[in-house]
Amino acid sequence: MDSNLSLDFLRVVEQAAIACAQTMGQGDRHKSDHVAVEAMRREMDSVPIDGTIVIGEGERDEAPMLYIGEKVGMAQKAPNGRSFPHVDIAVDPLEGTNLCATGAPNALAVLAASEGGGLLHAPDIYMEKLIVGPSSRDVVDLDAPVRFNLRAIAQALGRRVEDLVVIVLDRPRHEALIEEIRATGARIRLIGDGDLSAGIAAAVVGSGVHAVMGTGGAPEGVLTAAAMRCLNGEIFARLVIDKPEHEARCRAMGIKDFKKIYRSKDLAPGNRIIFAATGVTDGALMKGVRFFGDGTRTTSLVMQTEPHQIRFIDSIHVSDSGNIGAKIRFF
Ligand code: FBP
Repeated sequence: MDSNLSLDFLRVVEQAAIACAQTMGQGDRHKSDHVAVEAMRREMDSVPIDGTIVIGEGERDEAPMLYIGEKVGMAQKAPNGRSFPHVDIAVDPLEGTNLCATGAPNALAVLAASEGGGLLHAPDIYMEKLIVGPSSRDVVDLDAPVRFNLRAIAQALGRRVEDLVVIVLDRPRHEALIEEIRATGARIRLIGDGDLSAGIAAAVVGSGVHAVMGTGGAPEGVLTAAAMRCLNGEIFARLVIDKPEHEARCRAMGIKDFKKIYRSKDLAPGNRIIFAATGVTDGALMKGVRFFGDGTRTTSLVMQTEPHQIRFIDSIHVSDSGNIGAKIRFF
């Protein structure tokens, strides 16, 4: 897979973010998601790939667009004879639908891509997660007591447990986990949604976040793993399979070991991973979409493993009728 594709994928997440940011705060999460999906799907067909959606909006019968198994990219419309690289793609056109619908921080448009077979085909069920930055990746264990992990993270970072900030999704299922973290003295940031952007923050020094703990979506887990491959952070994860129906869905996707603890390299094993995300609403690492009459400004994070690069990209999208020259500002 050509690393130049990262700029094509940048266009895809930018367009999804711009579309749903227009619905910010309107209180209609389904509409926000729908316009992001439509924009992402549209833009995807201008990317020079023979792409397959491996993590998407759902199974074929429940999602009209970007469903698992859907073929995307220029290969779909290309004249016979022209060949394009096979690429597997995990998408979340709007990560944090409620965040966008309420104008809350950290909603993202996001995707990850890899050569064929480079991203785990995970069903849309829950996943236990522990996400840490590069310095803590070899000192924690998903099954270790919370106090053990926090002590190890603090030691790796050269600070006290009381100085750590752990992000946890604010859900009743996390009551016991929150109590355990509080008992150590570590600080907690409870979030309404968006454990993917939280995971990225945990892997970036200076973000003020040192770990993410708790149970969230498995698709977001695979996307987080792709980001961790680029950031040298780590996700430890285990699928939550507590219904026979989950077992069947896992088997259908080729997952046989239901107790396996996955790390980034298991969830996103590709050699050539590309990760692209655009801020929809303002966040710790990226600003949300800004509209200013003659144009639109977006901030994105585009990363890849080969060559290993992490880029923050600030784009101004000039509207066709616009006369933007006089209006560009540097902040
Ligand atoms: P959506 O973008 O689908 O709304 O998901 C947001 C999210 O908060 C994820 O970040 C997280 O992994 C998952 O939902 C948690 O699921 P639940 O809301 O069921 O606890």
